[in-house]
Amino acid sequence: MGCGRMRHLTMVLLLCGTAANADHELENRDLTAGRALYVTQCASCHGVQLEGQPDWRAAGADGVLPAPPHDVSGHTWHHANAALFDYTKQGGRAALAAMGVVDFNSGMPGFEGVLSDDDIWSILAYIRSTWPETKRDLQASRNPKHK
Ligand code: HEC
Repeated sequence: MGCGRMRHLTMVLLLCGTAANADHELENRDLTAGRALYVTQCASCHGVQLEGQPDWRAAGADGVLPAPPHDVSGHTWHHANAALFDYTKQGGRAALAAMGVVDFNSGMPGFEGVLSDDDIWSILAYIRSTWPETKRDLQASRNPKHK
């Protein structure tokens, strides 16, 4: 059941994460700062090695999904920049509601007011920097073309 739900969530992010942003938001970011912020803000759930929480595809008894990995075994690289940014800034519940999925019981908090937009981009750039080039290219191909 948890798996089916995750597939649905993944699809929603894939189909709906298309604000007018090109790949350059992730270029020329401070990866050292991004890693430091990742460790303090994200690692408690997503893991210091970006490994996620155990059995992350299965929702708990409360219906909340564990935090998925941000390494290539997860699905972060399937999503366009804007979708990742919105999910981080707004949190899972609000980001999904904005895509028409209401009342999703998300375990992903929103970081608006905690992290600046630049902080969020730096963290996402750090996450992407850990992937092999093939996955970085695939992720970049999810973004709308440069104008
Ligand atoms: C309290 C635990 C928690 C913290 C802290 C947390 N997350 Fe999450 N995150 C989750 C959970 C749980 C999900 C799974 C989806 C859901 O339930 O909404 C998730 C999903 C995501 C997703 C969408 C799935 C994916 O892989 O693309 C992104 C992006 C994300 N988190 C980024 C971050 C970033 C960046 C930080 C740090 C700034 C962070 N998260 C901190 C719990 C957390």
